[in-house]
Amino acid sequence: MRMRPLEYNDIPAVLAIERASFPDPWAESSFADEIGRTDRSWKVAVSEERVVGYGGVMTVGDEGHLLDLAVTPDERGTGLGRKLVWELAADAARAGASRLTLEVAASNDIALALYRSCGFDVAGRRPGYYPSTGDDALLLWSRPLKPHLAAMRAAAAGEDIILAVESSCDETAASVMRGGREELSNVIASQVDFHSRFGGVVPEIASRKHTEAIVGVVDEALEAAGVTFEDCDAVAVTAGPGLVGALVVGLAYAKGVACSTGLPVVGVNHLEGHIYAARLLDPDLQPPLVALLVSGGHTMLVDVPRWGAYTVLGGTLDDAAGEAFDKVAKLLGLGYPGGPVISRLAAEGDPGAIPFPRPMLRTDDLDVSLSGLKTAVIQYVERERRGGRDLRIPDIAASFQAAVTEVQVTKTLKAVRGTGARAVVLAGGVAANPALREALRSALAAEDVPLSVPPLGLCTDNAAMIAAAAHDSLVAGRFLGLDADAVPGLRLDRKM
Ligand code: KG4
Ligand code: ZN
Repeated sequence: MRMRPLEYNDIPAVLAIERASFPDPWAESSFADEIGRTDRSWKVAVSEERVVGYGGVMTVGDEGHLLDLAVTPDERGTGLGRKLVWELAADAARAGASRLTLEVAASNDIALALYRSCGFDVAGRRPGYYPSTGDDALLLWSRPLKPHLAAMRAAAAGEDIILAVESSCDETAASVMRGGREELSNVIASQVDFHSRFGGVVPEIASRKHTEAIVGVVDEALEAAGVTFEDCDAVAVTAGPGLVGALVVGLAYAKGVACSTGLPVVGVNHLEGHIYAARLLDPDLQPPLVALLVSGGHTMLVDVPRWGAYTVLGGTLDDAAGEAFDKVAKLLGLGYPGGPVISRLAAEGDPGAIPFPRPMLRTDDLDVSLSGLKTAVIQYVERERRGGRDLRIPDIAASFQAAVTEVQVTKTLKAVRGTGARAVVLAGGVAANPALREALRSALAAEDVPLSVPPLGLCTDNAAMIAAAAHDSLVAGRFLGLDADAVPGLRLDRKM
């Protein structure tokens, strides 16, 4: 695919796309009039000699007005629209524009999503703007062009410096990363001590502690990296999923930095971040992959045909894996979080001591269920206590862990066989579990499929993984506007 200036010969192809895209299409003569005007730039995107998209911009003083932009229906969702926006933005910037503006029909969801993904904000509404439909127009403005274009250029060269912030749950974290792979700093302030006496994360406390910690954590990350805000190309932030009162702290902080410095903001999906953690360890890791994402809030198997594309193959029907560890630990009076304690005790126990059930082990799907296993542990403990027998905690821990592990490993193998993945990524907080790592590694070795597991510190929540994911968004020209909200239920297959 390449971009070149619009020519007269392109007009029939452009008209066809225009008419397939808008209820109020431009006339043929209007396109012809545009060619050769010095205050305009029109570009077409050409793939295999075929025009697949086009757009035009007019520069007036320091404003670039995006006049028209469309891509063929079969190229939608490929990032081509965003490439065209930034191509025209670069032309407008060269002609003196500091920002871009445009009108878009309020009902045109596809166009709105495109401009929002470039970081444009809605600044106003013109009622009844479109004569044939009576539809309102929304007036959109980009953020400052220069820093966004510079960040994309730096990212394409692998030299971008990203400051990333993570605050989706109970860790306030910041990291500075070069080129999406070279970690310059990675600072994590855990709140776990404040939550442990309540046996789980208390959302109000999380939100307050993030507010207290975030400025200091970012300052420390910048200092450790030896950089200032001026050295950074973008600020990245976890936009979801997570606790809404926790997410908004990071997001508001990132927007504040953006307002005062002009830096672009990149929104990152937390779950995508967990998958990218594996690439920090293993720069040559290449899709097609299967990711087993196991954390306190999520348990899912994901098909990753290429970086940035995700299909959820299956997941837990009830408790997340980390949640099951936490609940069993609570039952045994081991405190919060439960995963690390259980895995430590399990190392001293016999995994075959108690035959806990393996729910859904043999079902055809890639789903799992963990609440029945948790109930079985509760019933076992009650039975032993009623019988006046001493609980052998290491045996319970080891047997419970073995049941979780066997189900996860079996379903992961099934996913690998079903997708033809060439590697597996184990990600999320529960990936810190040594028994799961080892069982998965040896099962996959038998299939000649390598397992990639981030180092322990990158398995649990951190901002380095957010920076790693943000790098690819920068390359793709994907940004957040300043009116973007946190999305507590953000799905893995949805970008911000
Ligand atoms: O990814 P994460 O830090 O936060 C979420 O996004 O949920 O995961 C935290 C979860 C907790 O449930 C914790 O108990 C679990 O990861 N975890 C472990 C281990 N270390 C942490 N689970 C099993 N074994 C471990 N060694
Ligand atoms: Zn997480």
